[in-house]
Amino acid sequence: MSERDIGLVGLGTMGAALALNIAEKGFGVAVWNRTGERTTEFMDEAGPLAANITPAATLEELVAAIRPPRAVLLMVPAGDPVDQQIAALTPLLSDGDLIIDGGNANFHDTERRNAETGGIGFFGIGVSGGEEGARHGPAIMAGGEPSLWQRIEPILKAIAADYEGEPCADWFGPGGAGHFVKTVHNGIEYADMQMIAEVYGILRDGMGKGSDEIGTVFERWNAGRLQSYLIEISGIVAKTADTASGGPILDVIVDAAGQKGTGRWTAIEAQHLAAPVTVIEAAVAARNVSSRRTARAEAEDLFGTGPEPLSSLTVDDLEAALTAGKILCYSQGFGMLAAASDRHGWNMNLPAVARVWRAGCIIRSGMLDDMAAALAEDPGRALMMAPFFADILKDTHGSLRKVVAEAARHGIAVPALSAGLAYFDGMRTARGTANMIQGQRDYFGRHGFARLDDGTEGRHGPWAD
Ligand code: 6PG
Repeated sequence: MSERDIGLVGLGTMGAALALNIAEKGFGVAVWNRTGERTTEFMDEAGPLAANITPAATLEELVAAIRPPRAVLLMVPAGDPVDQQIAALTPLLSDGDLIIDGGNANFHDTERRNAETGGIGFFGIGVSGGEEGARHGPAIMAGGEPSLWQRIEPILKAIAADYEGEPCADWFGPGGAGHFVKTVHNGIEYADMQMIAEVYGILRDGMGKGSDEIGTVFERWNAGRLQSYLIEISGIVAKTADTASGGPILDVIVDAAGQKGTGRWTAIEAQHLAAPVTVIEAAVAARNVSSRRTARAEAEDLFGTGPEPLSSLTVDDLEAALTAGKILCYSQGFGMLAAASDRHGWNMNLPAVARVWRAGCIIRSGMLDDMAAALAEDPGRALMMAPFFADILKDTHGSLRKVVAEAARHGIAVPALSAGLAYFDGMRTARGTANMIQGQRDYFGRHGFARLDDGTEGRHGPWAD
């Protein structure tokens, strides 16, 4: 019976949650998993929603259960498993059918797969929000042929998070545009998390506050301009007690951050685009530093403990510094999306990206609605130059400077906040220092420079031989 609206491959955490979400919204979904035991277990978990779900024992059964033209959503780990599933499905599908990759794919892979799948359509969607989001409403960032988007838009919008009546799912361009937006989302996610961790470090090591007190600070911030999912969960994490020791859970968590690589991809792609995303780059590098625990312990023995107590900062300084850092980071992130859109001819709707990020995803925050409005006023203008955000930056950059300076004076590492401040200072210096670099390049390699006085290019200095 070819009656189901969509097929779904991969009943891991995200796949299972999405399948239940699809079924709950009234769509019929056929599901297949590599191991049949998991499919049986999943059908038990589905309860009454099982009426909308067809479990398939084979890929042939899965394909047969979907109404043509078929759409099959892959929820398998990024990389080779996606290629393997495409290879297994392709002979079973017909021209006009569609494979959708809902994993955290590298957008280059999505572009390649788009070119390779021929008459079978291929579509890449970034899905954000973890298990809870996938089950009850993720943010969905889609990319591929517009006609294919029209086919799957009703299902994706129905299962997406809702922001005041608007679904957080949208199409951002052909090819790998959707997965590219998801990659930048994750880069910003790394940066937001790192800046919060840096402020946590000042509260803990500089101001001597306990985890519970720090949790209360985050709770307060979450009621203000910094309202966001990540500040909210940071408060919860800080206030949570460890059941084994009875002390704060943060005190027993190893200080080495893992990563699956999407933040790193953002930094790599930014370099290809020559787009400055210095806050994200600092956050990726900070995770790499964090993982060198043995080396850090040796260096502490050799040079002495870094962090020293400080009394020169207030909690309000930290709130303002985090606000400034966040605006600078998002200004860079949207700038990177604009650069990628120009490079790839995506004609990306940046205000729509901000709108999709307002709910469902990990970086959702109160500020994103204002960002969407500022980008809509003038999508070509850097976010930090929009009057709304420029006014906030004018109020807060002094605190960012004070926090970075005091942290530096007291040996507390704040790489992402420092990167934001350096970017801010660099961008507001009309006469920079790259004239020295151009002079050096010309001196040793006759690379040529442009003259300020007459605007001519390719000029050389009167260097001695
Ligand atoms: C999301 C997240 C998610 C990501 C995790 C882990 O938007 O739901 O970005 O897709 O996989 O956050 O990422 P790292 O392991 O790289 O920290």
